Amino acid sequence: MSEVQLKSLGELIRSRESGCGLPGEVFIRSDIFDTDVDVFFHKHWILVGVTADIPEPGDVSVVDIGKASIILVRDDDENIRAFRNVCRHRGARLKDAGKSTVGKLVCPYHQWTYDLDGSLCHTKHMGKHFDPTCRSLLPVHTKVVGTHVFVCLADEPPADIGKLEATMAPRFAPYDLQNTKIAHEAEIIEDGNWKLVMENNRECYHCEAGHPELTVSFLPEDFGFSTDEMTEESLRALDDYHKRNDASQQGWEKEGLLCSPVEELGGDVATQFRTQRLVIAGCGESQTMDTKVACQKLLGRSSRRDLGDTHMWTHNSWTHVMSDHAMISYIIPLTPEKTLVRTKWLVHADAIEGVDYDVNKLTEVWVATNAQDASLVAINHRGAQDPGYIPGPYSPFTETYVDQFVDWYAARLKAHGV
Ligand code: FES
Ligand SMILES: [Fe+2]
Repeated sequence: MSEVQLKSLGELIRSRESGCGLPGEVFIRSDIFDTDVDVFFHKHWILVGVTADIPEPGDVSVVDIGKASIILVRDDDENIRAFRNVCRHRGARLKDAGKSTVGKLVCPYHQWTYDLDGSLCHTKHMGKHFDPTCRSLLPVHTKVVGTHVFVCLADEPPADIGKLEATMAPRFAPYDLQNTKIAHEAEIIEDGNWKLVMENNRECYHCEAGHPELTVSFLPEDFGFSTDEMTEESLRALDDYHKRNDASQQGWEKEGLLCSPVEELGGDVATQFRTQRLVIAGCGESQTMDTKVACQKLLGRSSRRDLGDTHMWTHNSWTHVMSDHAMISYIIPLTPEKTLVRTKWLVHADAIEGVDYDVNKLTEVWVATNAQDASLVAINHRGAQDPGYIPGPYSPFTETYVDQFVDWYAARLKAHGV
């Protein structure tokens, strides 16, 4: 019997027809999944949390990513640090995934004990020649931008996180995002490969039919519809929307609120991101069912409710910041066909549930949207595994960012020798 020769990931990518999707094999093979995790989640900067996950000294949040695990901790000086979740004795995991509060980090196996700065401060029975100073926890590169906690497990992390920081820090600054609390968080394990989760996030082709709640706050036509195929009425609505957007942007820019799009999405960048401030439809305030703020206590010091939606994408996250709340989702690949999507809704640290905000009103748009996206990703993943699947063309109007994501994926693999 002859052995079936599997194509390499490089061969599969090169077999992709320009402007079309990737072959189904890249979403299911475990060897490709391992390469993806190694390249895109261990060698690039990824979002793994927000500052409000660990608000006080001693607060710990542990995030598992593939075989690696990271401890995020707020130290005694209120700095956020990250360490490999591996004991320097015989390698036991120090903490399980999730959040907790500690005085020190104590290994459950033989009780080696680490300070919150990672230094080994206590061991028993190691003898007088044992030098604890060279057994500190291994630090992980960390970068906090706004409230977003990015980490990179590479020895030499990509330097272009600096561009993201320089772009996003002034855009997030008016919202004082570190002075927030988590009003709600949710996890979904989607039945799809992480790349399909991100591809789905990069287009709004599916929004008009798939997201009745989300499309209350924007005009689907604005996301790259082909104007040749639009009705007179839709064209008029789009024109009105653009006029309103332009007027709003002029007003925001005058107040120093940055609006213009910034895109770092090409294959030459390691840390890909996109940002823009977009107008919100309807009452123009927030991504809620009535487009009004869901939290009466606004973020930062602004009294304006109509600050639009400052969004940010990275290759494992999407964020929307409005005057009253921020919604931040990030993904962690679990297996070739399972992806964790973790979402946090942030409000002002002093906002009081039941007085300033109602959790249902705050979360209902994205709870519904995430569930709808999970269903869409699942049917995409299942169908793409069918032997009859031949990747079709992306829309040149409304799927350009998907095409760009796949190009970036291919370029980054090449940059890492795949
Ligand atoms: S493995 Fe941690 S103390 Fe032994
Ligand atoms: Fe969606």
